[in-house]
Amino acid sequence: MEQTLSIIKPDATKKGVIGKIIDRFESNGLRIAAAKKVQLSVEDAKKFYEVHASRPFYNDLVDFMTSGPVVVMVLEGENAVLKNRELMGATNPKEAAPGTIRADFAESIDANAVHGSDSLENAKIEAENKLKEDLKKESDQESVTASASSSASESDIKPENEKVS
Ligand code: RTP
Ligand code: MG
Repeated sequence: MEQTLSIIKPDATKKGVIGKIIDRFESNGLRIAAAKKVQLSVEDAKKFYEVHASRPFYNDLVDFMTSGPVVVMVLEGENAVLKNRELMGATNPKEAAPGTIRADFAESIDANAVHGSDSLENAKIEAENKLKEDLKKESDQESVTASASSSASESDIKPENEKVS
């Protein structure tokens, strides 16, 4: 089954529409194979959007993506990459088709609610690398919280039938 990477961006997590966005995916044949709420570091965001490093909006994009928590998800389903991009709508919410996630929940081209892999090739890279990184972060976090015995700043939903050790 095809997989793609989705990120619910800081504007949407702040607005409290995580559930509404996930409902769009689940109501349209995309299953949440894995999900995790994380705070991206500047390094994470820079690396993730490295392809845009020379673009004038790069620094603003990195600032925005690190401005609050995000939800990183692997979506799974038939034609998952393309279906996710259709459900997201155009990059600029003002140009996004009615009923798409960006038309309904996004304010501007900078704060546009969701990220989605733009090709099967990138989906494979993003879903594998991003998820591995986040799962690694989780084990780091566990060792930190185990010694500090304080509440974690991250919360997660484990992939079904898969306990990460
Ligand atoms: P994403 O990667 O986040 O899913 O967005 P996308 O494919 O629809 O758009 P992309 O071209 O990959 O751009 C990544 C993010 O950079 C910001 N952007 N700003 N001011 C501009 O002209 C401009 N162009 C792109 C957007 O926030 C976009 O989501
Ligand atoms: Mg993109």
